Amino acid sequence: MSKEIRFMETVLRDGNQSQIATRMPISDMLPILKTMDEAGYIALEAWGGATFDSCLRFLNEDPWERLRQIRAQVKNTKLQMLLRGQNLLGYRHYADDVVTKFVQKSVENGIDVIRIFDALNDTRNMRTSMEATKNAGGEAQPAIAYTTSDFHTVDYFVSLAKEMSTMGADSIAIKDMAGVLLPETAYELVSRIKDAVDLPLQVHTHVTAGVSEMTYLKSAEAGADIIDTCISSFSGGTSQPATESMAIALENLGFDTGLKLDKLAEIAEHFNPVRDRFREEKILNPKVKDTEPKALIFQVPGGMLSNLMSQLEEQHLSDKYDEVLAEVPKVRADLGFPPLVTPLSQMVGTQAVLNIVTGERYKIVPKEIKDYVAGGYGKTPVEISPEIREKIIGDTPVETERPADKLAPEFDKLKAEISDYAKSDEDVLDYALFPKQGKDFLGRREDPFYDIPVQTVDVTIDMD
Ligand code: CO
Repeated sequence: MSKEIRFMETVLRDGNQSQIATRMPISDMLPILKTMDEAGYIALEAWGGATFDSCLRFLNEDPWERLRQIRAQVKNTKLQMLLRGQNLLGYRHYADDVVTKFVQKSVENGIDVIRIFDALNDTRNMRTSMEATKNAGGEAQPAIAYTTSDFHTVDYFVSLAKEMSTMGADSIAIKDMAGVLLPETAYELVSRIKDAVDLPLQVHTHVTAGVSEMTYLKSAEAGADIIDTCISSFSGGTSQPATESMAIALENLGFDTGLKLDKLAEIAEHFNPVRDRFREEKILNPKVKDTEPKALIFQVPGGMLSNLMSQLEEQHLSDKYDEVLAEVPKVRADLGFPPLVTPLSQMVGTQAVLNIVTGERYKIVPKEIKDYVAGGYGKTPVEISPEIREKIIGDTPVETERPADKLAPEFDKLKAEISDYAKSDEDVLDYALFPKQGKDFLGRREDPFYDIPVQTVDVTIDMD
């Protein structure tokens, strides 16, 4: 009997997010969804991450309507989304009532599986969204945000997986947003988690540093149940390994992938011209297809490398790039080794830039970093030293309770604020998550004289 492995296709979410800054409109997806539904994937990653923000901010598209349109075409394959735990699809902590409502509406509008992570792997920040997912009838897939440090050992990740299983996980993901998970470590991690926890295990990585196919191969050998890949058109570089190539290689090794290669070919034929168009429009920067082994050396995700480069270029300080790059791991160590995932990746990167360009470490500290040091994002993996803490927040006490515990319910207040434009709870959630972009989107839709145009220039790339 052959071993089984299943694939989740990421072109609609992570491939789109990683290579073209999430600018793919629904019109590029609709014609091929039926074929994708027939290709034998276990799931399509179709929503969440930066897609929601991008719909409102750049595409003037209703993100909920996008989800409903995808669901209408995809009848047999699961639809999966990525959720940043208590941060939902935004960057701050939302009150529990907003989190619960958002998750409920996501499932109601068509999502089957919600992958939930917290940037600090603080499971307290995942509890409300996990419970809400299960109550709404969805599958909860907590994700381990993978990163490296002396603290982040295989033992630590295994105990995290065990904790997630006791919280009601339906499956577990290892989420390597930076593409730094090495093949042998993946083998050990997958074997140990499979031994410890009786749940399906899904592995997610990025090609960025050039080791991802080996990592998937070793994960498959160790008993991973699902891997995340992207159809060749948008694969490689900052995205996932190519679906077709991974499938052919694993079939050759005796795995049953359940995929239909003729359907995969049709999907690639559809997305190739879409990719070429984005390339001509220069939205697809050729750099995203590059191999960047520096990610393994500095443990800095590829998307963060490009964010840093553009921040420095804007200030005509490109010559400081190497210094900033060397500063990133130092800031990360100072801050207790947070995984570099949204929003921590942006925060750590910005602090590293400030430390270098001001010529004095922590002379200027953004509000987000101060909040983080004061416990506002949850428990840091390693405790921050008293010297660094004092430098950043003085004698402000550090909060130890779950950050959302001090947030009063806010849905009704937000609903009242946006009552001129919002026609549904989904509309209110647009505004709750992105007050400015949500209001502008709804304003343009409801008021012909609303004259704030759709944004065209991006500032940073979300890393998840
Ligand atoms: Co990813």
